[in-house]
Amino acid sequence: MFQTAKIDQADKKEFYRELAQQLTGLLHGERDVIANAANTSALMFEMMPELNWAGFYFLKSKDELVLGPFQGRTACVRIAVGRGVCGTAVAKGQSILVEDVHAFPGHIACDAASRSELVVPLSHNGEILGVIDLDSPIPSRFDADDQAGIEALADIFIAASY
Ligand code: SME
Repeated sequence: MFQTAKIDQADKKEFYRELAQQLTGLLHGERDVIANAANTSALMFEMMPELNWAGFYFLKSKDELVLGPFQGRTACVRIAVGRGVCGTAVAKGQSILVEDVHAFPGHIACDAASRSELVVPLSHNGEILGVIDLDSPIPSRFDADDQAGIEALADIFIAASY
């Protein structure tokens, strides 16, 4: 059984170094995409403070994301590329950090409690396969350290699963 270890929150960069190590251990030896996405969601949701949603959307066709494994409240299943924060991250091919979801035009509210959001694309050989999406009920919950930390987790997930 994989045992998660509590990580000190004081130094965010160190927090993400340790979270990356735990994810590497958690996914080691497993290549099933759904299993790895499910465990990555569970690890983020358990270890990161002040989240109300953590999970995956996968591109099932070139113009639509479909809900993948997640932790949190039930969510919208399909998001068109270019729509919402997730679809915009895919269209732009870059991470999007939203300090106030109410100020993001076209934000799709799955949980009315969400106030800030971080979406990181999953890239493999230059192709976007989906996104990791994190929501928080706290305004401005995410910063550049969170973005870099989750981008590193996305790379570990991709390397383990594809
Ligand atoms: N807020 C997202 C939709 C997904 S939920 O947050 C889980 C968006 O605007 O794309």
